[in-house]
Amino acid sequence: MEILQYPDARLRERAEPVAAVDAAVRAFIDDLFETMYAAPGIGLAATQVGDRRRIVVIDVSPEGDDPRVLINPEIESAAGEQVQEEGCLSIPGVQERVRRLGEVRVHALDRDGAPYHFEADGLLAACVQHEIDHLDGRLFIDHLSLLKRQRIEKRLARERRKGGDEGRKAG
Ligand code: NI
Repeated sequence: MEILQYPDARLRERAEPVAAVDAAVRAFIDDLFETMYAAPGIGLAATQVGDRRRIVVIDVSPEGDDPRVLINPEIESAAGEQVQEEGCLSIPGVQERVRRLGEVRVHALDRDGAPYHFEADGLLAACVQHEIDHLDGRLFIDHLSLLKRQRIEKRLARERRKGGDEGRKAG
């Protein structure tokens, strides 16, 4: 699948909850994973491929052998703060430090539609927040100062005029 690139307006749309997890949803999840691993990235939200369902796939493991499916994900509780360097497959070439919740308890449905919980900190917690942001039409650069964002906007506009840019590890 094609990953939408900033500033595509569809990246700003809010996704809708998945009502039923069926074979079509599972096939879509497989396509999301394939797209994420090929990019390569550590997370991908349905929003990034122009789909308006609340579906996220994540794999923050170095070997790419820890796939996680989050359907209708919600952060139930959180503690602390952290700062991680983040990138995004929809904003290639931009890496910035972002302040986020440090530890989160997440509720979601798995690929069979079964509810589950997990606790995360560090990179996984940051990635979950980054991807849920996508489902709400938010991008990681929205968390930066106005000055930083303007600097990035200028650089991206310049690069768009030149045409093309190389993607890096991102979600
Ligand atoms: Ni992203």
